[in-house]
Amino acid sequence: MKLEDVKKLLKTHEQSQLLAFWEQLDPAGRDNLLTQIEQLDFSKIDDWVANYVKNPSSAAVPADFAPALSYGSVPKDAEQRRKYNEARELGRKLISGGRVAAFAVAGGQGTRLGFDGPKGDFPISPVKNKTLFQIFAETIAAGAKKYRRACPWYIMTSPLNYEQTRAIFHSNNYYGLNENDVFIFQQGTLPNFDFDGKILLADKDKIACSPDGHGGSLKALYTSGAIEDMKKRGVEFISYFQIDNPLVNIFDPLFIGLHALDEAEMSSKALIKDGPKEKVGNFCLVDGRVTVIEYSDLPDREAEKRNPDGSLVFELGSIAIHIINTNFVEKLNAEGFTLPLHRAVKKIPHIDWTGKYIEPAEPNGIKLESFVFDALPLASKSMILQTVRSEEFAPVKNAAGIDSAETSREMMVARSADWLESAGVAVPRRPDGTADCVIEIAPSFALEKADIKAKLNQIPEIKPGDSVYLA
Ligand code: UD1
Repeated sequence: MKLEDVKKLLKTHEQSQLLAFWEQLDPAGRDNLLTQIEQLDFSKIDDWVANYVKNPSSAAVPADFAPALSYGSVPKDAEQRRKYNEARELGRKLISGGRVAAFAVAGGQGTRLGFDGPKGDFPISPVKNKTLFQIFAETIAAGAKKYRRACPWYIMTSPLNYEQTRAIFHSNNYYGLNENDVFIFQQGTLPNFDFDGKILLADKDKIACSPDGHGGSLKALYTSGAIEDMKKRGVEFISYFQIDNPLVNIFDPLFIGLHALDEAEMSSKALIKDGPKEKVGNFCLVDGRVTVIEYSDLPDREAEKRNPDGSLVFELGSIAIHIINTNFVEKLNAEGFTLPLHRAVKKIPHIDWTGKYIEPAEPNGIKLESFVFDALPLASKSMILQTVRSEEFAPVKNAAGIDSAETSREMMVARSADWLESAGVAVPRRPDGTADCVIEIAPSFALEKADIKAKLNQIPEIKPGDSVYLA
């Protein structure tokens, strides 16, 4: 684009400040800046500024919504038991037939954890201190062995942690996976705005921007070539999870099978919230479609509502585990789709209009993100399966307290203890019921509870205070 045209375009959209330092830039800097400006989606920027940046109530909840329906973690009657069995069998067939791929979203900045580097590199396992990346890689390798079929792993990073993530995989020899089965790609970015709707500059030749949220995965899967790669391999179902949850059951035949039997396009796992204000998204029905309302957006009076039996009316929490059809992602992209944006008021380092670098002490602008669960209402069908918290949800989000490395490790040990006990192994316990030992079960030893029984002869006697690693 010619400079004159760029100037006109910026003027039309009231973003001329982006060229404030044009005269001071060398040719490389000018090229740099022009390329970034050309990549901005000017057809949307005015709408973003009006509807999100300058509109604090943009996330207003729909006028009418009801609780979503779901399958229980165990079947409710004989008929459903038959369906679950059929689903499990189908799920196993789909996994062993190579129809399922693993997909982790790992583009977050992990600011709350205070860890310098991609969150996937955070050491977490209770005995061996394996990183999240290693745990998932070993899970995928164990799944491939169990189902006798290699499973590709797609990992979405942001432009900020892409190179580092690749370097980590490279230096760890892809944790034993075949390099060709690991596909690391980048999500897109969105510009950062000040409160007046002006796009900020990170430097004289650099627009301030940030990752476009995990909702960006639906576009990035397509533009990166990941979907094409999946189709070539015959993959139909994407097992979606967040990099922060080491307990996720990537290969769950029941979940995959129910999704396929119900001919859903995008499905979710849910858990029963531990209270009205637990910080998880809420599964609701809006106009008959499954929709997630974020914890921060659900009005208190709705969050507190109870059924006659005392349970919460909005009890289904989203743990960001989905099955997504490759065809669904392809269709969305081919037809063109937009997800709503969510605004977050943040401290955004930038240069001011005199060129001075500012590291703000207080929030000074708006970051925009899209969320993957906002695609649920776009699916022709969407299924929800409840899961049990202790089995499948131990996120690492904070440096201390709730959802921290400490709670996550405790839950990993608790699950291992439960798996062993359910197979008849004695586990020493403290008076409060917690395991009086540290146990780590490697994915190669057992991917699920039922796998333990076949390994009983490999399990040593566990004494109080022991540290036990089963691999
Ligand atoms: C998220 C969900 C919440 C859910 C909870 C379960 C949102 C807004 N909320 O909360 O409904 O109950 O997890 O643990 O997501 N990511 C990217 N790119 C981005 C931003 C994030 O890949 O641009 C990835 C992160 O690496 C992480 C995941 O998305 O794996 C979640 O992001 P995070 O911002 O930590 O979400 P939460 O607020 O914890």
